[in-house]
Amino acid sequence: MINEQEIRSMFPILKTEVYGRPLVYLDNAATTQKPQSVIDEIVNYYEHENSNIHRGVHFLSQQATEQHEKVREKVAKFINAESPNEIIFTRGTTESINLVAFSFGESFIREGDEVIISGLEHHSNIVPWQMTCNRKKAVLKVLPISEIGELEVDKLESLLSDKTRILSVAHVSNSLGTVNPIKKIAEICHSKGVPVMVDGAQATSHLLIDVRDMDCDFYCFSGHKMYAPMGIGVLYGKSALLKEIEPYQGGGEMIKRVTFERTTYNEIPFKFEAGTPNVGDTMGLSTAIDFINDAGYDYIVEHEKQLMAYCSQRLEEVGGIRIVGQSANKVGVISFLVEGIHPYDVGVILDKLGIAVRTGHHCAEPVMDFYGIPGTVRASFGIYNNKEDIDKLAEGIVKVKRMFS
Ligand code: ALA
Repeated sequence: MINEQEIRSMFPILKTEVYGRPLVYLDNAATTQKPQSVIDEIVNYYEHENSNIHRGVHFLSQQATEQHEKVREKVAKFINAESPNEIIFTRGTTESINLVAFSFGESFIREGDEVIISGLEHHSNIVPWQMTCNRKKAVLKVLPISEIGELEVDKLESLLSDKTRILSVAHVSNSLGTVNPIKKIAEICHSKGVPVMVDGAQATSHLLIDVRDMDCDFYCFSGHKMYAPMGIGVLYGKSALLKEIEPYQGGGEMIKRVTFERTTYNEIPFKFEAGTPNVGDTMGLSTAIDFINDAGYDYIVEHEKQLMAYCSQRLEEVGGIRIVGQSANKVGVISFLVEGIHPYDVGVILDKLGIAVRTGHHCAEPVMDFYGIPGTVRASFGIYNNKEDIDKLAEGIVKVKRMFS
């Protein structure tokens, strides 16, 4: 059974000092740190295995191709996809959503059609749909949120119409931590024939993902938020849909045959993978999945549950704190305001104490507008955080309050 100390020792960056103090890293929703195994894997790839894939007859190319495709299989298993063909490698969540917004939009969205997103979204699940709607003269509708920061799913049915073409929603809110009821949302949407896209960026490091159980049509996530490198991400799509939608980018690898007159496209998933893929970071993603699987979601979920409860309790003890987003179903994130002090000032002083949190609107301006606030201070947790980190955060906030009193 893995323990806290063992896990912390796997992350070299946690030994870093910031302004002469030990780093307290509580910005995991922005990006997680990387275990030594992931760092070693990337170095190993470039030291011993680097080659372009799907193109070469030589040893290194064939070896890299085989490994790359094995990672696709591993990812499919990780999220319980039916087939590796449903796994597309992208640069990350943002690129995955842009891909679907463009490709699905080209194939299925016409003038006067409707797209639904929610009031909890990160900008990356708003702007690509706005762009598609502008291009296609379609209408963007928003499923509202309640005061505690939950989706008002009871309003979904009335929002759906015979013009709705797709709904896109976060699995977990990056600004508040709310876990959305994807299975229920998919059930309601599917009863009207509407496919569902899920932004899983904030979910994969906290929750076991089962795309078939949720029955979502598209699901995406970023490697760097789950202990893997930046620049690698995944788009899952049900194969029937992937086959139907237009490619996103043109180039090498996504074609079957090219003449000056006409191009025929490759099979899925390659139809969506134009150009040389990020093979090295795919290897890093593979090792990060091993790391998560070795730790196990039972450990991850229980550990984080304890951290979330402890953090709420410590913030309450500090006093004068407003927690923004009060859903009982939250993971990974506690967003808060310190009475009378701007979130930015809180963040800057915490930083001087070696504590990394994110402050501001967290790329979710509509959520902040809903609450009528400029932003929050966000503490977000990873597998290596412990109660000591939270104690330091609480002590830091006490110092901030003293400075401003
Ligand atoms: N999406 C990242 C965050 O929530 C960057 O901080």
